[in-house]
Amino acid sequence: MIVVAAASGAILYLQTRHAARTQADAMTAGSWRRGELAIARYQCGSCHIIPGISGATGAVGPDLTGVGTRAIIAGDQSNDPVALARFIAHPQRVRPGGAMPEMGVSDGEARDIAAYLYAQE
Ligand code: HEC
Repeated sequence: MIVVAAASGAILYLQTRHAARTQADAMTAGSWRRGELAIARYQCGSCHIIPGISGATGAVGPDLTGVGTRAIIAGDQSNDPVALARFIAHPQRVRPGGAMPEMGVSDGEARDIAAYLYAQE
């Protein structure tokens, strides 16, 4: 009985995770899978804590755990897929003089990264 409950709990977890990822890709028109690789490549984790990214323990910028659940990002931007991707691609255009540097992230890569961040539980 306990084994059955644990197994169905695990299946439910995996289904929820899968649904969150599918929904995140649809919302952003990006790919969470490519976003994961882009986050590692740009070393966003040198400044941010990002769950699921090895070595992403930076404390310069805000912790990105659950960033999808926040109403406001980057100080004064309402949190939607377009605004999040725009900020990731061009933080200095969105917040001139802010502490997040321009890193040369393309618009497509920014959508992928936004998908990864929204796909977290
Ligand atoms: C040199 C350090 C640094 C690097 C590297 C960096 N960031 Fe940031 N990031 C910051 C700082 C500082 C802020 C807060 C900026 C602000 O509010 O103006 C920030 C803000 C953010 C926010 C808004 C979070 C919130 O809750 O307001 C997101 C999302 C984000 N960064 C994603 C990324 C991604 C993705 C990368 C890699 C492409 C990255 N950052 C690389 C320093 C960095």
